[in-house]
Amino acid sequence: MERKSTSLILVGVLAAITAVHAEGKMKIEKSVFGKTKDGHSVDLYTLTNDHGMIVTLTNWGASIVSIQVPDRSGKNADVLLGYDNADGYIGDTAYLGATVGRYGNRIGKGRFKLDGKEYKLAQNNGENHLHGGVAGFNKKLWDAKEVKAADGVAVQMHYVSKDGEEGYPGNLDVTVTFTLDNKNEIKIDYLATTDKATVVNLTNHSYFNLLGDAAGDILGHEIMLSADRFTPVDVGLIPTGELRPVAGTPLDFKQPKAIGARINDKYEQLVFGKGYDHNWIINPTGPAPRLAARLSEPKTGRVMEVLTTEPGIQFYSGNFLDGSIKGKKGKAYQFRNGLCLETQHFPDSPNHPDFPSTTLKPGAKYQTTTIYRFSAK
Ligand code: GLA
Repeated sequence: MERKSTSLILVGVLAAITAVHAEGKMKIEKSVFGKTKDGHSVDLYTLTNDHGMIVTLTNWGASIVSIQVPDRSGKNADVLLGYDNADGYIGDTAYLGATVGRYGNRIGKGRFKLDGKEYKLAQNNGENHLHGGVAGFNKKLWDAKEVKAADGVAVQMHYVSKDGEEGYPGNLDVTVTFTLDNKNEIKIDYLATTDKATVVNLTNHSYFNLLGDAAGDILGHEIMLSADRFTPVDVGLIPTGELRPVAGTPLDFKQPKAIGARINDKYEQLVFGKGYDHNWIINPTGPAPRLAARLSEPKTGRVMEVLTTEPGIQFYSGNFLDGSIKGKKGKAYQFRNGLCLETQHFPDSPNHPDFPSTTLKPGAKYQTTTIYRFSAK
């Protein structure tokens, strides 16, 4: 009897040691982040990898809350703009860290035709529709759960957008899975299905600042965008339909260049965007997910690469930040304190039949992947 229990204990101890060994220091912890106005709990998930990289996520808006990564001396800092609690995200107006949908970016005049029928959406950005409308996916409480991942720790978020929500046709079933691995990558897998033809364009709206803790503007960051062309816009930031070569323009980031180098040029596109706020057409070379952008910060040595299966990337240089948002630790986010790299289909695609299609039909799967990969040099 006694021998049996001793050996059972031994087996248990061995199993525990094996589990720790197999998983290293990788873990997920769940805690309370706050409450919605109608009393539902909003959760915070903390994902840690073997190298001490820490990512936090919340199911409010399926948002990334923070990303702590080392600089070249190994010192961790948070490279994301955001808020300290759920209330910050619930009241947010700038899409900090959020999953954006049903249609990320703009749809001209909030109208589009699908199978001969016209749909009217909210005109929540001048006369245009932006980021899914008045209460887009960033304003929803998603269901979240930990899921198994072969190469890391993962949280899966799920939301069903009802037929007619924000004017879009079809019940859209959306799953977004965030995985942190030991290569210091955050992988986001988007999956959606519908029961009626609709349009879909999902992205993540994280604002990055590789200095850490938003300690200054992003003008000294260097960026490389793997794109020979971009989609020029009108004054309302709706694509004109032209696919323009970046060569010879301040939008040429084929070789890495400081963001501040030409941001104040009197180039009409920069005037319209109040800086960079454009869609670059990712060169379709190499297997997908392919490298779309490389961002590096010379003082800290932090580097972030963006890989994606998407055809476009919106580089937005935080031109609407003006100090009115109070973020983490009460810090006011000033002009260009952060930048977004939103992987996507092109803006206003539903009204541009020659752009890659954003139509999703019943029976088909919307499936895209984007990876944010961190390192230091
Ligand atoms: C996107 C748009 C910007 C701005 C931000 C949110 O990136 O392209 O013009 O609306 O979202 O402030």
